[in-house]
Amino acid sequence: MKVGIESLAVHVPHYYLDLKTLAEVRGVDPGKFYQGLGQEKMAVPPPDEDIVSMAANAAYRALEGIDASSVDTVLLATESGIDQSKSAAVYVHHLLGLPANCKAVELKQACSSGAVGLLMALAYVAVHPSRKVLLVTSDIARYRMKSSGEPTQGAGAAALVVSAEPRIVELGQESGSYTEDVMDFWRPNYMDEALVDGKYSIKVYQRALLRAWEAYASLTHRSLDDHHRFCYHLPFTRMAEKAHLHLVHAFAGGKTRGATTDALAKIRSSLHYNRLVGNSYTASVFVALSSLLDLESDLEGRRVGLFSYGSGCVATFFSGVVLPGYRNFVQAERHAALLREREEITFQRYEEFYNYRLPRDGSECATPRHQTGLFRLAGITGHKRIYERVAAEPAEDRQGTPERKGAVASIS
Ligand code: COA
Repeated sequence: MKVGIESLAVHVPHYYLDLKTLAEVRGVDPGKFYQGLGQEKMAVPPPDEDIVSMAANAAYRALEGIDASSVDTVLLATESGIDQSKSAAVYVHHLLGLPANCKAVELKQACSSGAVGLLMALAYVAVHPSRKVLLVTSDIARYRMKSSGEPTQGAGAAALVVSAEPRIVELGQESGSYTEDVMDFWRPNYMDEALVDGKYSIKVYQRALLRAWEAYASLTHRSLDDHHRFCYHLPFTRMAEKAHLHLVHAFAGGKTRGATTDALAKIRSSLHYNRLVGNSYTASVFVALSSLLDLESDLEGRRVGLFSYGSGCVATFFSGVVLPGYRNFVQAERHAALLREREEITFQRYEEFYNYRLPRDGSECATPRHQTGLFRLAGITGHKRIYERVAAEPAEDRQGTPERKGAVASIS
């Protein structure tokens, strides 16, 4: 039986800051961001976009044309949680009008819980082939202003329908994992911004990659050459270049210029979206996969290796084979339009969005209205977040199941 990805959709905020603008204000050579980090733009969410609205927007697109009545599990992976108790998955379940006989939970382990959630979903579907799992990864990467992490911010969500009827990628359940208790990146409950020992995190990322690969390779007996392309967790795109060369040099030998060029060709297409969006933590490895599948049209039957790294740390290497006809199911045109139609913001606007805070005393608040996807955070009342659907369903979207058409417009 095949299990894997039936659909895959990405959502990113409508606004971005060009890193040239940030470089100018911070008095840094733009080459450091563009070439040194491999990042051009970072997505900046407006006050009415949070991980729930982004997740709902991505999930809505992932469920298009899919019988949502078979979805009985919603897994939402994030490290930007909005509540200590209630899972963001329950809000998304409601906004999408998913069946009531469903379980919905949130998963956390820095940037790696999305990949771990995917492996859990595959195992579940293998036992219950008539069921589908909606896996949503959604995050806002936020560091202190003026810190070295600032240019590696970003935001986005990726949603996957995992089922026994995969149309895009058939995934293997064999994976190699590695866990080590390290303090390279963390966010105490009382902080809005992550704390990070950036240089150390790069070292641990690379160490974890080698250990996870070793575990995967010994289980599958596959070599690096058995993989046509690789997708990495992307805190910034140069990270994948460093990591992949580290892996290739450790296990395939050869540090010649030709070997390096060949190795980098195996990750190039996967970097494109992240270069324009920035870090999206749990979502980033799936944004990378989406970028690869959207940009390359001759991947049928090819094996793709995926590496997820979550600081703290948990790392996982796994792989899948791209299915015949996958181009009919990827959302390349929609993703291209989403990125193309974004709006560049000034540094002042970035500061305004960054500094916006929802009330913490339960007082009533309506968030200022900006451009979002179909769902937005409308405000807060009595310590409760209120979400709403912003527009009448566009004609091309009226293909959902009865359950989805019946989705309620707001939560209160
Ligand atoms: N033109 C081109 N490249 C330049 C440059 C210029 N003018 N100036 C600097 N660079 C290069 C540096 O040589 C370096 O490249 P290298 O790593 O290949 O040597 C790169 O730009 C980054 O410069 P560096 O001085 O190391 O940056 P930094 O000290 O400001 O921090 C991070 C970089 C990634 C550590 C920081 O952004 C961070 O902490 N990010 C958040 C955590 C993170 O993403 N961790 C990754 C693992 S999860």
